[in-house]
Amino acid sequence: MPDIFDVLAADHKEVKQMLARLEKNRPRRGAGDDALAKRKEKVEQLIIEESKHEALEEMHFWPAVRDKLPDGDKLADKATGQEQEAKHVLDKLDKLDPSDGKFEELLTKFAESGHEHIEFEETQVWPKLRKALSKKEAGEIGKKFSDGKKTAPTRPHPGTPPRPGALKSAGPAVAAADKARDAATGRGKRTTSGRGSGSAANGHTKAELYQEARKLGIEGRSSMNKDELARRVTAAKRK
Ligand SMILES: [Fe+2]
Ligand SMILES: [Fe+2]
Repeated sequence: MPDIFDVLAADHKEVKQMLARLEKNRPRRGAGDDALAKRKEKVEQLIIEESKHEALEEMHFWPAVRDKLPDGDKLADKATGQEQEAKHVLDKLDKLDPSDGKFEELLTKFAESGHEHIEFEETQVWPKLRKALSKKEAGEIGKKFSDGKKTAPTRPHPGTPPRPGALKSAGPAVAAADKARDAATGRGKRTTSGRGSGSAANGHTKAELYQEARKLGIEGRSSMNKDELARRVTAAKRK
């Protein structure tokens, strides 16, 4: 059975791979709507994975660090402080369109601090906790973390304090609301055919979406790009 360190290592590897791909595939100046919609989708997937990971660490990992290590509070305070900062960055990024000049800037900021945070956890915290936990305890925390993936929040929620009590009570309700919003807008699945059928972007051109937006009376449609049009059309249809 994978223990908590195996589970965390797999998540860290995935996030690092996502960041490397995003870095490699930075859109060129003047990239088209389809390329930008794809970029948005990939960044949303990163935010979803990262939000789940940090929320679950706050629920199951940092309490063990605080409980088992003499300097656990100091380590956990530093790490959860980094996580809170990252949540503010991701929250802003989540609300931006890739055509906005700040989008890539925020993504770079997150990537830099994300690498630093992962390194801190892996080199400063894991070795100490590995020694302090029994095999059974490490396995049990790993199971709680893995099981929690299904019901973890998919958005950063920078306003929620990083305390396990606050997260445990708010977690499932917040996560359910996140998932309902994700399904309604096709978040993280906007451009993938066959998935995210909730998104109006699937299989439609920008002109078609514009016509739809006109029929629905969506204001400001003439200045929207394809991604924004798709989001607004999807939202208007769900009302
Ligand atoms: Fe973390
Ligand atoms: Fe982590």
